[in-house]
Amino acid sequence: MTFLFNSDARRGAIFAEAFAKELPDVRFTIDATTVDPDAVRYLITWTAPEDLARYRNLEILFSLGAGVDQFRFDAVPAKAKIVRTIEEGIVRMMQEYVTLAVLALHRNVPAYLAHQRAGQWRDIGQLQAGSRRIGVLGLGQLGQAVLDRLKPFGFPLAGWSRSPRQIEGVTCHHGEPGLEEMLVASDILVCLLPLTEETRGFLDAALFAKLPKGAALIHTGRGAQLDHEALAAALDSGHLSAAMIDVTDPEPLPAGHPFWSHPKIILTPHVASVTQPATAARAVIENIRRHRAGLDPIGLVDRSRGY
Ligand code: NAP
Ligand code: GLV
Repeated sequence: MTFLFNSDARRGAIFAEAFAKELPDVRFTIDATTVDPDAVRYLITWTAPEDLARYRNLEILFSLGAGVDQFRFDAVPAKAKIVRTIEEGIVRMMQEYVTLAVLALHRNVPAYLAHQRAGQWRDIGQLQAGSRRIGVLGLGQLGQAVLDRLKPFGFPLAGWSRSPRQIEGVTCHHGEPGLEEMLVASDILVCLLPLTEETRGFLDAALFAKLPKGAALIHTGRGAQLDHEALAAALDSGHLSAAMIDVTDPEPLPAGHPFWSHPKIILTPHVASVTQPATAARAVIENIRRHRAGLDPIGLVDRSRGY
């Protein structure tokens, strides 16, 4: 029984050490060229290898990250489970990033950076946290963790999901009617939705038009959810005030793309959250134990929903 690690050797070494200690009966390898494909029961990777079909006894395909949109589900052997990584490192880093972004936008950092470059010492006033409404698209592990971390600041908090949720201290909305209710009351909108056929191109001109004038966007979902031209137009017209963008399509953006130099955009290169190997190895090992015990792994993907 083999676990194939299809990623960089540095993280592979950390996984290897954890497997040797915790699951010694599973053969761990990072070398796909010498592996017996029939022995591979578990594979962890960011993108699926082209020859995925050769692992015909695969039981679990693990994504190295929280998202699984990089996989073509129909290319994954039908009996294999698809499992995403849910581990404390990813969660903590996303909490840090979104808190940083919310505070930067709340305290008008993009405007002050532009003033600094123009040599202007100018106070533009400051809204109190109690008057800055935050709306989070996606109430999964990351959306909920981020809202939890924002609670002490005193922002009115809201969130939106597909199915109804109840979260203490958060006004929860769901489904189509709930979306508009939340958008019209979001001064800072955070996108933490998975990329699916339903969410592709979701952050578009119609959505931006529903936000209050002067609202700001934080995008940490997936690049293909954002209509770049619509965002630039909403910023240039003054309807939106600023945006902090971590994910784009394509990544990296080509030279000369307007986001590189847009004064109202802070751009980061898909670094909001990065899988931490030590904690991820623990989570994967726990999931293999669960799977062997006949339990569903944590982070099991529903192929029909796409996340
Ligand atoms: P998750 O636990 O699967 O949660 C997804 C949430 O989105 C759920 O609340 C789900 O609703 C909601 N949702 C999905 N489709 C929807 C739809 N059509 N309408 C309304 N709500 C919908 O995912 P997660 O672990 O929080 O991660 C979210 C995403 O963050 C990942 O898929 C990935 O794309 C992104 N991410 C980015 C980075 C980065 O560094 N930028 C790092 C990690 C992850 P239900 O609750 O009803 O199911
Ligand atoms: C990163 O984007 C992830 O999905 O973990």
